Amino acid sequence: MTDLGNSRPRCLSGMRPTGKLHLGNYVGALKNWVDLQHTHDCFFFIADWHALTTDYDDTSRLAGNTVEVMLDYLAVGLDPGKCTMFVQSHVKQHAELHLLFSMMTPLGWLERVPTYKEQQVNMPDKDLHMYGFLGYPLLMAADILIYRANFVPVGEDQDVHVELTREVARRFNSVFCKDRDTIKDPVLIEPQTLLTPSPRLLGMDKRKMSKSYGNSILISEEAPQLEQKIKNSVTDRPKLTDRGSPDRCPVGNLHQIFSSKDQLAYITEGCTQATIGCVECKALATTSVNAHLAPIRDRRYELAQHPERVKEVIQQGAKKAERVAEETMVAVREAVGLLGSASLPKPTLVEIGADLLLVPITKTNEPKEIWDIRVKQSGWLDKINRLHPLRFDRPATFITSRGRKVGVHTASENNGTWEFLMRDRPLNVLVLLAEDKDRYLHDYVLPPKILQYYWKDFERKGEQVVVRVARTEDGVSLSVAGKELPIQEYERNYAALE
Ligand code: TRP
Ligand code: SF4
Repeated sequence: MTDLGNSRPRCLSGMRPTGKLHLGNYVGALKNWVDLQHTHDCFFFIADWHALTTDYDDTSRLAGNTVEVMLDYLAVGLDPGKCTMFVQSHVKQHAELHLLFSMMTPLGWLERVPTYKEQQVNMPDKDLHMYGFLGYPLLMAADILIYRANFVPVGEDQDVHVELTREVARRFNSVFCKDRDTIKDPVLIEPQTLLTPSPRLLGMDKRKMSKSYGNSILISEEAPQLEQKIKNSVTDRPKLTDRGSPDRCPVGNLHQIFSSKDQLAYITEGCTQATIGCVECKALATTSVNAHLAPIRDRRYELAQHPERVKEVIQQGAKKAERVAEETMVAVREAVGLLGSASLPKPTLVEIGADLLLVPITKTNEPKEIWDIRVKQSGWLDKINRLHPLRFDRPATFITSRGRKVGVHTASENNGTWEFLMRDRPLNVLVLLAEDKDRYLHDYVLPPKILQYYWKDFERKGEQVVVRVARTEDGVSLSVAGKELPIQEYERNYAALE
């Protein structure tokens, strides 16, 4: 974790695991998500429970489709280092919040959601008179509210659900948070729809591009199939002498999205004046689309060869998402008036970092919570930890075999800064374990050079030396003698200490 502080507005969106995604999904959502991950604190998930609201009777492809969608997310450029991607059913808190909402949401609110009636009409061969189907917008409200998302990037069709989400948040705050100033300090916050600006993209038969119509081009379409689909596409000019418009033609739409300005101008002129043939136009479109999809296809292929990497992304994403969701749920349970589980015995292991664990020591009479630090990596810190278990509340000093004196100190975050207090005894190496607000533990190592040079400049508080670390835009810095020195998270590399 290098991205510590996160004051960027939060975005959340999800897709059902319908299988491999198509270009409609790409231009209507994914492309936009890829941009958002640079400017927003993004959570993108795969709504597998949502898939059950309409397809509970055949789940044979549910798990496989979930992986396919994750492969598409990654292939188009969503980066697990920049956004959090996860599978809905891995974060049980969504279900818990949905259940609590189901207690306080009037039935009429759900029956009035337009998609409730529409989908029943649109899918006549499906019996959708199911409790879960009716409650689906409420599950979506839980998905959004549990992350305190500010924005929900979705298409217009989902806007009514975001509206309902706001109503649910308002109702929750008014029913359960009577003693609280819910304007200044709401438990749940009302999200806004971030309408995705998406160019029109017709399916190959001129209807809306949709998987169920079989008129789509997949993001992962292989070159020969891509060519074939474009070749077979309906166009806007039944005869060569007819004038047409790229706006009304699936192939024209592809040019509008994937071709260069010049080429788009060329085919637009040719189409509207009937000076080019659709065959030529299609060939040009194929080249443009293929140029765009080839790198995506390659990345996807490469990833599909490494299922362990995808699994890792899914696991790490769930962990991150769960931490955020759980934080909201603690406040939610308290607001609802449930007995907090803090008064029950702690689970044996609380994971708070990629490589470092804080483990509560259970056999203690001390009133304050005591945490053991467990190190998952192999290496120096792991070795010393096995010999001399580290404790979060207690500094430790070690001498390495080469006679270097190493201090290990811990501190919790306070308003974006950490103060590590230590005795005024020079050290060769200082290991700083910084617990952040989300209970992540980050490890920083100050090497001998920095310590020797700056030791006397560190702030003094009485007898103690204060090493102050503060959040910055892209990491943390050490402030010493009025200067800010950038420091780096160690990321498993304790080679300097071996
Ligand atoms: N309802 C969305 C769809 O069918 C998927 C979805 C579920 C979603 N939960 C969400 C989208 C939360 C945005 C936010 O496409
Ligand atoms: Fe479609 Fe191109 Fe033919 Fe125009 S010229 S109708 S855009 S295929």
